[in-house]
Amino acid sequence: MNYYEMYHKNPKYQRELYDFYERTYKDLKNGILPKSYPKGPMLQDFYLIYPGFTYKFWRTEYIKSFGFPLFAEDWVKPLAQWIGDRPCLEIMAGTGYFSYALKQYGCNIKATDNYSWSNKFDTVNKFIDVENLDCIEAIRKYGKDVKFIICSWPYMDDYAYRCLITMREVNPKCRMIYIGEDMGGCTANDKFFETMDVCKVQGFLDAIKNYRRWEGIYDFIALVK
Ligand SMILES: C[S@@+](CC[C@H](N)C(=O)[O-])C[C@H]1O[C@@H](n2cnc3c(N)ncnc32)[C@H](O)[C@@H]1O
Repeated sequence: MNYYEMYHKNPKYQRELYDFYERTYKDLKNGILPKSYPKGPMLQDFYLIYPGFTYKFWRTEYIKSFGFPLFAEDWVKPLAQWIGDRPCLEIMAGTGYFSYALKQYGCNIKATDNYSWSNKFDTVNKFIDVENLDCIEAIRKYGKDVKFIICSWPYMDDYAYRCLITMREVNPKCRMIYIGEDMGGCTANDKFFETMDVCKVQGFLDAIKNYRRWEGIYDFIALVK
């Protein structure tokens, strides 16, 4: 039985998920993160089992408004607490929602993006100021003053790799918090994965242990240098 059949046979769960998706989208728009996501797969095209669903392709709507990671308090808050008062720079920040969310939990973070994808994101109702800056320039400008560079869902070109190299050059003690898929997936490129060193820091791993993915998407968070 696939997930869609499973959900079809469980109207109570369908209703719960419907309510959750509706409520969460509105809350996120108001700057409020859900505590966590429901157990079970996070279906991208929920309308297939619930034809009246307002957001036909829930993931598409979600990405447009907030970005690629599934933001929830159960991993963003512990991550922010683990980061503490160590300054951060976010590059390729898109809507800036991740920086916004980390800031809500006390992080000192600067968000940057070159707005090349602005037609794909709803950045009209901004949650945070995102400085219009190329990622390499951002690392050159702010990299030496931060402890972490956040890089979530970089495109599959050379930039994530070049950012990693630039980070090492500008500030060898800086670490990158990477969110995306693995080699062969739909983020960064092979050079990035061949070059990066994963830092297995227990406090970090504990902080992000509740990170959730969409059904059919294989992203993860890693601390890399
Ligand atoms: C796939 S989106 C990811 C956005 C966001 N980090 C997220 O996780 O939702 C890639 C982002 O990188 C930005 N971008 C692409 N090339 C860039 C560059 N050279 N310098 C800065 N930002 C860039 C785009 O504008 C876009 O917002």
